[in-house]
Amino acid sequence: MQQPETVATFFAMSSTSQITRLTVNGDVYEVGVPTHFTLLEALRYAIGLTGSKQGCDKGDCGACTVVMDGQPTLACLTPVWEAEGKAVTTVEGLAGPEGPHPLQDAFDVNGAAQCGFCTPGILCSAVVLLEQNATPTRAEIQDALAGNLCRCTGYAKIYDAIEAAAVQCRADVANREGAE
Ligand code: FES
Ligand code: FES
Repeated sequence: MQQPETVATFFAMSSTSQITRLTVNGDVYEVGVPTHFTLLEALRYAIGLTGSKQGCDKGDCGACTVVMDGQPTLACLTPVWEAEGKAVTTVEGLAGPEGPHPLQDAFDVNGAAQCGFCTPGILCSAVVLLEQNATPTRAEIQDALAGNLCRCTGYAKIYDAIEAAAVQCRADVANREGAE
């Protein structure tokens, strides 16, 4: 299997900086960052992946949500060293070679993003939900998104989009199994 290329990237190295090895969206980064940096700061300011948003920066809004070892994770509350050795997926890593993730298509079709600030975090929470539960009820979707705030949409279109994506994901699985 081909090994991912390691990218070295640095943010204002000083005596209080450290080199941290992060695996993000399948790529390996050696990032030089201040020891107090969070995962969110390393993603945005050292690696340049700005999809994960810096909203409240204190765990209240969910805009910074990424997937870490299969779990939705608030990157603004995660010290960068804690992400070492873990697999991190950000919104930039959701699309595959065949195109956008079904959730991304469903958000587009259902008008589930308005200003879009909350969308990357909501997509990451929803990806984990659909991986763990192929047939979520609306209550289960609401529960999975309890930590993601949206100021624009009133949530109904977001829930509609996630239900539509769940239908599409199930159809994709059935098609793959039928082709085998
Ligand atoms: S920026 Fe992380 S929860 Fe608001
Ligand atoms: S679309 Fe604007 S905050 Fe959710």
